[in-house]
Formats: sequence, C-alpha cells, structure tokens
Amino acid sequence: MPGSICHETIADKDAIFNNKKAIRGGIPLVFPHFGPWGEGRPQHGFARTSLWKLSGQNKDRKSGDVSATFTMEDSEETRKIWNYSFKLTYTVTLKAKSLLLEFTVDNKGQEAFDFTCLLHTYLGVDDITQTSVVGLQGTKYDDKVTGQTDCTEENEEVTISGETDRIYKSTPNELTVKNTKGGKSVIIKKNNFPDAVVWNPWIEKAKAMSDFGDDEYLVMLCVEAGFVAKPFHLEPSETFQASQELSLA
Ligand code: BG6
Repeated sequence: MPGSICHETIADKDAIFNNKKAIRGGIPLVFPHFGPWGEGRPQHGFARTSLWKLSGQNKDRKSGDVSATFTMEDSEETRKIWNYSFKLTYTVTLKAKSLLLEFTVDNKGQEAFDFTCLLHTYLGVDDITQTSVVGLQGTKYDDKVTGQTDCTEENEEVTISGETDRIYKSTPNELTVKNTKGGKSVIIKKNNFPDAVVWNPWIEKAKAMSDFGDDEYLVMLCVEAGFVAKPFHLEPSETFQASQELSLA
C-alpha cells in the first residue's frame, strides 16, 4: 500500500525468507533476549525465527480496523535454549491511519523469569543522510559502536552519517522519524517500551551481511522500541504488556 504506514516498513532486497533466519525487514520481534546471547543461543532470541499460531482475526464494523492475533508458547525447542514456560501474544491492528502492535508475555510456569524484548522496526527512507530522529534529546544512551556507555544525546534531531548502533534509555513515549519514504514523518507512540535502539549498519557492516544489499544502508533506518536496557522481571501468573503505534505525519 504505497503512501500508507505499511509501506514505510521495508524488507531488504536480499532478505532471506526460509524460516531459519530472521527476515531482514518489517518488524521482527525480539524475545527473550536482545543482542548476543552466548554460544548456541540465537542473537535477539528465538521469537523472530519461531512459527507462531494465528489465533484470531477481527474486523471492527464501526471503525473498519482489522486485526490479527498471533501466539507462541514454549516448546521442547525453546526450553533447550531458555527453560521457562511462557505464552506470547502479538496483535497487529491495521487502522485507517496507523498500525498498532500489541505484545504481551504471560509467565505460565512456577518460576519467575527475566527477559528483554523489542520490536525491531525497519523503516524505509529515501536518503538516510536526510533522515533524523526527534525526541531523544537529553536521554542517555549506550553506544555499541564506540563502546561508550551513558552518553547524553545533545541533539534535538539525531542524524545518521556513519555506523550507528545506540541503545537510548528511558526515552519519551513519542518519537518522530523525519524524512522517511516520500519525505513523510513516522510517529512512533510506544507504551511500556522505555528504550529505543537506533541502528544503521553503514557501508562495511552492510557489505558483511549476506542478507543485506550493499547499498541498502542508504535507504533504511531501524528505530526499535523495546525493554532492553535492563531486563523485565515477570513473576509466575503475571503478564507483561507493551505496545507501539506507528502513524504518518
Ligand atoms: C540491532 C542491534 O538491534 O540489531 C545491532 O542493536 C544488530 O547490534 C542489529 O547488529 C541487527 O541484528 P541482526 O541479528 O538482525 O543482524
């Protein structure tokens, strides 16, 4: 749907769709671990490469909103990697002017567990050098490229001019990504996702990734709402809820 919010999230031209590797585009869901996770455990967790079940669909007659709910539960496979009992529920609602993504984690076991999670949103842009993220000024971030931690963002508009991989912590619930496709701004409204990762691999890292076109770094930016700076602690029978709504300005 050109011109709609769905058109703004992209799939890289070299993305691999084989159920083994996370798709390089759209909004892969990171759970239960953001980042590298030790030997034998997949980076960014297993939720993004697992098969989910479609557990419901709905069309709201009044508003016209359409939604689909997907679930995923622990299995023999997930328990080999992370030995907890859980249920994930992900509801995607396409509204007239926005895309709403609601995520819950239920602890189904007898033991509490800690996890991190994130919506790894790929946004398509026309020219990365003209794109900026607004709303991060004054927040603290860890810079994964330089290794510096707890830096303070000085800029009102964060621009990208080289490899960028930052975890902004305790960010405002509304962020704006200016100059995405067609010069439009994407508004990200998030709830209970305190952190925001800003990622662009730039030239060398793009070349090193087999499922990422060499020049695609020029036309993408990931702005990822998450709970990642510190883990969330979930007691048995409790539920974690978070959401993100994307719209165009
Ligand atoms: C970002 C991380 O969220 O995802 C980066 O901050 C990482 O460090 C990037 O390189 C892409 O990860 P992956 O596993 O999809 O290649």
